[in-house]
Amino acid sequence: GGAKHPHSGGFSFEGPFGTFDQGQLQRGYKVYREVCSSCHSMNLMHFRTLAEPGGPFYEEGQVNPAENRFVKALAAELQVPDIDSETGEPIMRDAVAADKFPSPYPNATAAAAGNGGAAPPDLSVMAKARHDGADYIYSLLSGYRAAPAGLEIRPGQHYNPYMAGDLTPFWKGQGHVPEGGFIAMPPPLRNGQVTYDDGSAQTVDQYAKDVAAFIAWASDPKQVQRKQSGMGVLIFLFLFAGLTYVSYRRIWKGVA
Ligand code: HEM
Repeated sequence: GGAKHPHSGGFSFEGPFGTFDQGQLQRGYKVYREVCSSCHSMNLMHFRTLAEPGGPFYEEGQVNPAENRFVKALAAELQVPDIDSETGEPIMRDAVAADKFPSPYPNATAAAAGNGGAAPPDLSVMAKARHDGADYIYSLLSGYRAAPAGLEIRPGQHYNPYMAGDLTPFWKGQGHVPEGGFIAMPPPLRNGQVTYDDGSAQTVDQYAKDVAAFIAWASDPKQVQRKQSGMGVLIFLFLFAGLTYVSYRRIWKGVA
C-alpha cells in the first residue's frame, strides 16, 4: 500500500532565491488551457493575474496588467457567461482581462456526472492542497503506468503509482501490493499534443513539468515577491545589527 514518493521536477522556483521561469509558466498555461481546462476549473484565477509581476505574461515597463496585449488576446479566445444588461437574459460574451477563468462545467453535479462520478478538483491551489505540490503534480501526470498483472482495475479507474490509496482489496497477484492507487482521471497527456513555439521538448514529461510549474505559480502568485522582500528584510536586519554594534562600541568607549 501507500503512494510512491514523487520525484523532483528540478524546478527553478524552489529554495530561498528561486524564481519562476517565465517561459515555463507560459508553456504551462498553454497546457492548462489546451488540455486540463476541458475538465478542471481554476476558479481563483483571473486573466489579468497572468500579467502581474512574476506572472507568465508580465512585460517589463507594463503599467496596467489588464492592458497587457497577450492577456487581452488570450482572454478574448474564450467565452464567459454573463447577463445582458438590457434584456436581463443570460448570454455568453468574449472574456476580458478582468474575468475569472471560465469553468468547464456549470456546477459540481455536472462535473461529477461528466467524469463517472468523480468531479475533477479545482486546480487553483492544487500545489498547496497536496503534499510536495509541484513535484506531486509532475509525478502524477507523467507517472501513469500499465497496471501490474494481478491488479483488478475498477471500471472508470486508472492505475497510477503516485496516487494515494490502498490497492490491497484489488490485488490478486504475487508478492507485495503495488504502490499507488486508482484515479478517475484518464492519462491526460501524450507526446506532441501541445505545440510549443520556443523549441522545448513536446513530450509528456515536459508538459507535466510545465503545467505543474504553472499551477505552483497560480497557487501563490506573490511567492517570489514575498521571498525577495523577506531577503531584503534579512539584509537590512544584518546591516542594522552591525551598525548597532558599532555605535554601542563608540558610546561605551572609555567608560570603565
Ligand atoms: C484529478 C491535474 C487533466 C479529470 C486531478 C488531480 C490533479 C489533476 C492534480 C488530483 C489528484 C489527486 O486527487 O491527488 C490535472 C492536470 C491536467 C488534468 C494538470 C492537465 C494536464 C484532466 C482531464 C480530465 C481530468 C483532461 C478529464 C478527461 C480528472 C478527474 C479527477 C482529476 C475526474 C478526479 C480523480 C479522482 O478523484 O479519482 N487532476 N488534470 N483531468 N482529474 Fe485531472
